[in-house]
Amino acid sequence: MIQIGAKKLSLPVIQGGMGVGVSLSGLAGAVAACGGMGCISAAHPGYREADFRQDPKGANLRALKEEIGRAKELSRGLGMVAVNLMVAMRQYAELARAAVEAGADAIISGAGLPLELPSFTKGSKTAIAPIVSSGRAAKLILKTWDKRYQTTADFVVIEGCGAGGHLGFKEEELQAGSAQPLEEILPQVLEELAPYEEKYGRKIPVFVAGGGLTGKDMVRFRSMGASGVQIATRLIATHECDASQGFKDVILKARSEDVHIIHSPVGMPGRAVASPLIQRVEAGERIAPEWCAGCIKTCDPSTTRYCITNALIQGVKGDWENGLFFCGSGVDRVTEMTTVAQALEEFCVPVEE
Ligand SMILES: Cc1cc2nc3c(=O)[nH]c(=O)nc-3n(C[C@H](O)[C@H](O)[C@H](O)COP(=O)(O)O)c2cc1C
Repeated sequence: MIQIGAKKLSLPVIQGGMGVGVSLSGLAGAVAACGGMGCISAAHPGYREADFRQDPKGANLRALKEEIGRAKELSRGLGMVAVNLMVAMRQYAELARAAVEAGADAIISGAGLPLELPSFTKGSKTAIAPIVSSGRAAKLILKTWDKRYQTTADFVVIEGCGAGGHLGFKEEELQAGSAQPLEEILPQVLEELAPYEEKYGRKIPVFVAGGGLTGKDMVRFRSMGASGVQIATRLIATHECDASQGFKDVILKARSEDVHIIHSPVGMPGRAVASPLIQRVEAGERIAPEWCAGCIKTCDPSTTRYCITNALIQGVKGDWENGLFFCGSGVDRVTEMTTVAQALEEFCVPVEE
């Protein structure tokens, strides 16, 4: 069992948050029901709501709360139901408060430094975790949380360079394959956490992510001091995943050579399938947004190469021509549809901490 705040995980696996709409209550609830931590993405959970175009903020806040409630029902009281929140989102504070109000067991936050996260969860039972890609980022976040809020992380996710979605590494390093491997980042992060574990008198479990980690990898990283893994791409090809079958088929068909490091409108590099949209953008085309939800702090709709929200919405619906399909570097090993329980079987090893 891994103790996180007031809760316990019997399965040392976090399902990585996947926006837009890829990880909602269906996937998160199924992972929690297996004793792991399911994670609902707070990036436009309301994209299917009738009023999404008129009032994206209202639709997202309402949908996020509903998805948390539904995931908790599906979890049958097992595991944990978390929310993934990107620092780059303009609605960060409102979404964080909504997650706490709806009783999310944890908020996991990356795509930037979540320096203010503790201010939204103070006095609640919602655990907090930053996503980091270096010992330096872990140090800065934990130092800030300790100084400003007299608190520390309940757990930490280290996202390595093989992950899908936005990546906390330099584009050149990713292209050249010279980014620091997880095996080197893990001991650095553990060293940064040690003083806070001592000060706050509790272990801060660390979960490593990225590159299609397997049960064997998990055992190896546990022997190096990690508590478990966070996985995502593998779980897209499950019946419970909230994306359309079209999206799942893109993942099932993708080979290593189809995967590109892209320059996201969020201002970070990302890993995605080289779909027609990506190829058009890479060839220099600009696809001007028809509509703007005002979602990303760093995005200027008058200059952006394309609207990432629209591209991700088309992607989750399975529109190959216009969609953006994030994936991890291990996508070529995802070749069959399974249930979540089948996909998680290889991670079911006895855990005592
Ligand atoms: C389709 C997709 C969408 C993702 N969206 C997000 C996101 O919104 N926020 C986030 O922090 N990470 C996101 N990620 C990263 C995952 O949560 C996870 O950490 C990573 O992909 C793990 O590596 P793996 O996919 O190789 O198992 C996304 C990944 C994928 C594949």
